[in-house]
Amino acid sequence: MKIAVVTGASSGLGREFALQLAGQEKPDEIWAVARREDRLRELGGRLCVRVRPLPLDLRLQESVKTLSEQLEAEKPEVAWLVNASGFGKFGTYRDILPEENHDMIDVDVKAAVDVTLAVLPYMKEGGRILNICSVAAFQPLPGFGVYAACKSFLLSYTRSLNQELKERSIVATAVCPNWTRTEFIDVAKEANAPDAVKNFFFLAEAPDVVRKALCDSRKGKDMSLYGLPSKIQHVLCKILPHRFVMALWNRIRH
Ligand SMILES: NC(=O)c1ccc[n+]([C@@H]2O[C@H](COP(=O)([O-])OP(=O)(O)OC[C@H]3O[C@@H](n4cnc5c(N)ncnc54)[C@H](OP(=O)(O)O)[C@@H]3O)[C@@H](O)[C@H]2O)c1
Repeated sequence: MKIAVVTGASSGLGREFALQLAGQEKPDEIWAVARREDRLRELGGRLCVRVRPLPLDLRLQESVKTLSEQLEAEKPEVAWLVNASGFGKFGTYRDILPEENHDMIDVDVKAAVDVTLAVLPYMKEGGRILNICSVAAFQPLPGFGVYAACKSFLLSYTRSLNQELKERSIVATAVCPNWTRTEFIDVAKEANAPDAVKNFFFLAEAPDVVRKALCDSRKGKDMSLYGLPSKIQHVLCKILPHRFVMALWNRIRH
């Protein structure tokens, strides 16, 4: 049995990955991970391939264990893994509660690494991993600092993993979207400082970001950038001092 594992499949980019993978790759099953089971079941009703809802909270270590046990029991071939579960909270060190920081680190970083390691034994040559990072990974972002640091970790991890996996002909791609129309911004505002970031320029559409990511993954790229603004940001963050980029961000975020 050939499957795709998609975390964050209840909403936004993860849901869109499930839709496009079902249409283009036609795996035997999509194992759809997120907390909201009703959303995962609704997704199953829309797809032409079987969806296995896995209602798991990836803040919890035992959730990855549950996924591992199901993989061990069925021993499928995982052809695609998409780590799209993730969230950020707007605010500075004064605003964000320690538990919120821990949750961000647990879901955005720890779970992405743990799910990858749980799935890798079931991937063969030609397997594809897409870790959803962000343009936030390219520089520190005051007012969104822990989130940006999490995404820097995930970008760095994914690119080195891609090198390590060359011997197995598996590609790992760090997908780095700019602001995209999903539930992400609403969730980020559910915080003590919802106005720490107020301007969301160049909002992209999830289907476009996902189409480009799947295309870049098939081409074997270790990073996927959708749209000119993301590409310009990537280049500027390489050549400009980060203190300058942070000063610019501080001017435009309010
Ligand atoms: N939208 C943007 O502007 C943007 C830009 C750059 C990068 N990204 C990244 O893209 C990824 C997807 O976000 P999105 O834009 O699609 O936002 P979204 O619509 O809010 O989707 C986030 C997904 O993560 C899941 N999730 C959150 N906490 C979880 C937990 N504890 N356990 C399991 N799943 C959890 C949510 O499912 P449940 O709530 O059902 O658990 C949901 O399916 C994230 O990693 C985000 O950082 C987004």
